[in-house]
Amino acid sequence: MRTHDRQTTTSCGRNVKMHQITSADAGSVRLFFQELAGDSETVSVFHPHLFTPEQAVKIAHYNGLDYYAAVLLDDRMVGYGMLRGWDEGYEIPSLGLVISASFRGLGLGHLMMNYLHTVVRLRGAKTIMLKVYKENETAARLYRQMGYVLSDLNEREWKGLCEIGAAHRGCECDRKGCK
Ligand SMILES: CC(C)(COP(=O)(O)OP(=O)(O)OC[C@H]1O[C@@H](n2cnc3c(N)ncnc32)[C@H](O)[C@@H]1OP(=O)(O)O)[C@@H](O)C(=O)NCCC(=O)NCCS
Repeated sequence: MRTHDRQTTTSCGRNVKMHQITSADAGSVRLFFQELAGDSETVSVFHPHLFTPEQAVKIAHYNGLDYYAAVLLDDRMVGYGMLRGWDEGYEIPSLGLVISASFRGLGLGHLMMNYLHTVVRLRGAKTIMLKVYKENETAARLYRQMGYVLSDLNEREWKGLCEIGAAHRGCECDRKGCK
């Protein structure tokens, strides 16, 4: 059984699923990476690694401390999220995510972030970091909504930090205006 499975059936019967990527996802990951590799606009703001078939195999068969997740809509992979850094010995994981361009604006980005935050809580970590290009306003807004404080990393990038202790629950916290 996979760790951290989460499944939601929408009112129109469509099925949204998130889970940790395993070898059973190899085909889906390959197709998703192929789609990303052909989307230069997305790759210009999201390039944690190459999106080659070889990298898809590597991610699907990965068995370390870092965490790679898929969002599936009716069994099609439409999103990819990651928490990295644990393998290298860092206490604070670095978060990244991408949603297929055709499925943005549905809340899947928020869903994936909440999911990854829960994984972090289950692992006992309290802080998450990320990097985002300043020009990537959609992602920066999402991160701020989810409780990240963005500060200058360099001319082109923000560094985001989020404390995800019990008192700080991402967008819920934002909605209550407690930031
Ligand atoms: C950032 C990203 C993951 C958001 O995914 P998403 O599934 O669209 O996110 P959500 O549906 O939860 O929406 C997040 C916000 O983006 C807005 N948004 C989504 N698509 C948009 C679009 N095409 N244009 C403008 N805003 C958009 C939503 O309205 C929402 O804002 P709101 O909460 O103020 O209404 C997605 O845009 C993406 O994959 N971008 C490319 C990769 C990337 O930038 N990754 C982060 C790199 S650090």
